[in-house]
Order: sequence, then structure tokens, then C-alpha cells
Amino acid sequence: MKETIKKLIPESLIARLRGLEADMKLHHETAHQMRRFRRNYARRGSMRQEHLETRIIFFTHQIEKGLSHTDFRYGFGKGVLAQMAPLMAALRAVDSDIAHNDVYQTAISSLHEYRVRHEAAHVDLTYMRDLFDAATWNAIAATENTTGGAMVIRSSDKRHNDSLTFTQLMEKRHSVREFADESVSASEITKAVDIAMRTPSVCNRQPTRVHIITNPQLIRHAMPLQGGFRGYPMPPALVLITADNQAFMNQDERNEGYTDGGLFGMSLLLALEEQGLAACPLNTMLPMKRDEATRKLLGVPDSEFLVMYIAVGHFRDEVMTCKSQRFAADSIVTVHA
Ligand SMILES: Cc1cc2nc3c(=O)[nH]c(=O)nc-3n(C[C@H](O)[C@H](O)[C@H](O)COP(=O)(O)O)c2cc1C
Repeated sequence: MKETIKKLIPESLIARLRGLEADMKLHHETAHQMRRFRRNYARRGSMRQEHLETRIIFFTHQIEKGLSHTDFRYGFGKGVLAQMAPLMAALRAVDSDIAHNDVYQTAISSLHEYRVRHEAAHVDLTYMRDLFDAATWNAIAATENTTGGAMVIRSSDKRHNDSLTFTQLMEKRHSVREFADESVSASEITKAVDIAMRTPSVCNRQPTRVHIITNPQLIRHAMPLQGGFRGYPMPPALVLITADNQAFMNQDERNEGYTDGGLFGMSLLLALEEQGLAACPLNTMLPMKRDEATRKLLGVPDSEFLVMYIAVGHFRDEVMTCKSQRFAADSIVTVHA
């Protein structure tokens, strides 16, 4: 019976009805997703341990970026320190085993480097000292933890990148935000894109699109809209990874472009590293106005979502970057046996 009715209804009507149903689901499920996000993201002012840790990692990263600037600015990050100090006190209050809290100890370690570098230059640190209680201030001085702060990257260490094992390449890749003056051609980047094409994607539908920007004027306009690269000289090249939503077939796949584009992004980062090119992924989770301005500037088609930028250049002889300490693998693994 059902089959007979189905045969009588024209395909165009079925498609229309299915489309209406999918639109309603898209609306309902996007709202459901939004509510889950809203319940859980690390809002300012939250005292949940995970939220405090997220915010401390964010500010530790700001300190590490300041510490790794070639053009080191003494006294940088006063606002960051002012936000970090109460968060660290709050984390101590909720975590009874703070001595083994890696997020906290890495923050202390990066503050140690901040303190030592300033003290070595005889910079008055009263502004910092006033933010922390005596015990924390002393812990910042005394820590032997070296997981936080800045590290040096040398171009001479990159010469044999094409013969490294996967593990070595993963270990050695770091985000680099300051590049040699030398330009980077689109064809150098395309070589790495070629390698990244082996990245898997849903049903092999390959939604990722790659925009390579080498025009300095476009880069100069795009970077302030991105917003996370302030204080650095412009990179010689910028790659914009997008996902073309024309590759998707129903509302369940509304976020798939970010997954597939993200996988592609990591492949591309490793391929660039293998080719001896320096790179830094940069987020494109932009507020609507900056998203629209970026689309207009770069002529991104309406069908594409922005996934991420990657700044690309040649390595300087020596440059500093953030250590960006990682969680231990077992701290993120849940085994469902
Ligand atoms: C999606 C994504 C967005 C990022 N956005 C920025 C950014 O806006 N500015 C920045 O300086 N670094 C950015 N980064 C780089 C991260 O800070 C860096 O990957 C992280 O600290 C880990 O360090 P590593 O890449 O050196 O291993 C981003 C990284 C990713 C993966």
C-alpha cells in the first residue's frame, strides 16, 4: 500500500516535502546545539574547574606569545596578568591537589619566565607583585617547572624535515608567527596542498577549498579582520581553508565542513613543515561582521564556511615561539570497555 502511494506521488513533491522537513530539523537541531554550547562553554566569571583551567590556558598562551616576540616589549600583558591572578586563586580553591594540576603549574612556569626576564633587565615589577599573594609570588620565583614560556626554533633544524618519521615531524612542528623576509610562492604552497589532498573526508566528497593569498595588500587588510595576529609583522603568505557546503546533502551534515576542513588543515600544516616551511594556524571563528568583511575582501563564495587561516613563510635563522604544553594523553582518554 505504502509503496503504491509512493509510486503515485511525483518525485518533485517528495523532494519538496523532504526539504521542508529538513529545514525544520535544521532550525530545531541548530537551536538544540546552541543550547548545549551555551550551557557548557567557559564563561567569564564561572568557578567550574574546567572553565577556570580553560581561561588560565588562554591567558598563559597570551603570556607565552609576549615572551616569544622578537620585538620584546617589557611590561607587556598587564591586563592579562590582572585576569590571570584571580583565576589562579580560584583554581587553587577548587582543586585540592593543585601541586599536580598541570594547567596551574604551566601557568606558574610561564609567569616564572616573565618574572625572570623582567628582573634580569631591572624592570620594576610592582604592578605584577601587587596582583599575587605572597605564596604564589614566591612559587613563581621558585618553580623548577619548565613546561611554560617560550622556546627557540632554528631554520638549521628544519633542513632534513623531509626525512623525519611521522612522530618526529609531529614533535618538531610548532606554530611560528614571525617569518623570514623572503616571499613564498603559491606553487610552494600548492605542493603541500597536493600532499594534503590525501586527507579523508565524508564519503570522499572533499568539501575543502583552499584560497592562497600572496598579495601583501590583501594580507594587510585580512589580518586585522582575523584579529589573533596583532603585534606581528605581516606573513608572506596566507592560506584560507574553507568548506564548500554544496558537498553536503542534509541538515545532519551542517557541521561536517569544519571536521573535514580541520582534518585537511592539520595535513596541510604537516605537509608545510615537511617542506621546510614555517606556519601558524589562525582561527576564522569570526563575529558576523568580520566574517562578512573577510568574505567580501577575498571573494569567498557564499557556499563556503571559513574553517581556518594558515600563515605561511620561510623560517628565520632563529625565532622564538610558545611552548604550548599539552595535556597528558591519559587525561583526555575515556575507555569504554
Ligand atoms: C584552529 C586554530 C586557530 C588558531 N588561532 C590562532 C590565532 O588566532 N592566533 C595565534 O597566534 N595562534 C593561533 N593558533 C595557534 C595555536 O595557538 C597553537 O596551535 C597552539 O598554541 C599549539 O601550539 P603549536 O601549534 O605550536 O603546537 C590557532 C591554532 C588552531 C589549530
